[in-house]
Amino acid sequence: MTETLAAALEREHREIDEGLETYRASRLAGEPDSAALVRAIDGLRRHIYLEEALFFPPLRSAGLVGPVLVMLREHGEMWPLLDGLETEVGRDPGGDTAAGLLDDLVPRLAAHNVKEERILYPQADGVLDGEPAEQLRVFMTTGRMPPGWVCEMARPQPD
Ligand SMILES: [Fe+2]
Ligand SMILES: [Fe+2]
Repeated sequence: MTETLAAALEREHREIDEGLETYRASRLAGEPDSAALVRAIDGLRRHIYLEEALFFPPLRSAGLVGPVLVMLREHGEMWPLLDGLETEVGRDPGGDTAAGLLDDLVPRLAAHNVKEERILYPQADGVLDGEPAEQLRVFMTTGRMPPGWVCEMARPQPD
């Protein structure tokens, strides 16, 4: 049986959480696993991309404007934390700055994911059908975020 879109999206949440937890545990053990952190950062950016590019637009068209807006805002709040973590991976991957950024990110991400899983993901398989559903599925399997892409609410605002 084909995995539902909702299940596939939730699976991505868990994989990203596991990467962050692997890093956290390795750091506490004194050997910070930078590769796990980089994978989780890249995985979360890519996940945010596929939500904003392929998942939210059809939800918005189906009338879920408010919930989508809240999710976009939260992506915009998490994005600079990912930028900071990326900097710290190259500078001091086991350091207090990285740990502080992670302490900020993890509860935000947990609260965000719960909302998506309760409110938006249950709509995925009903709202997306045909081409949009196929595009999202294909992206989840093989897609890559365009280099340098920045989530909608973390982009510089025009004056
Ligand atoms: Fe999200
Ligand atoms: Fe998500």
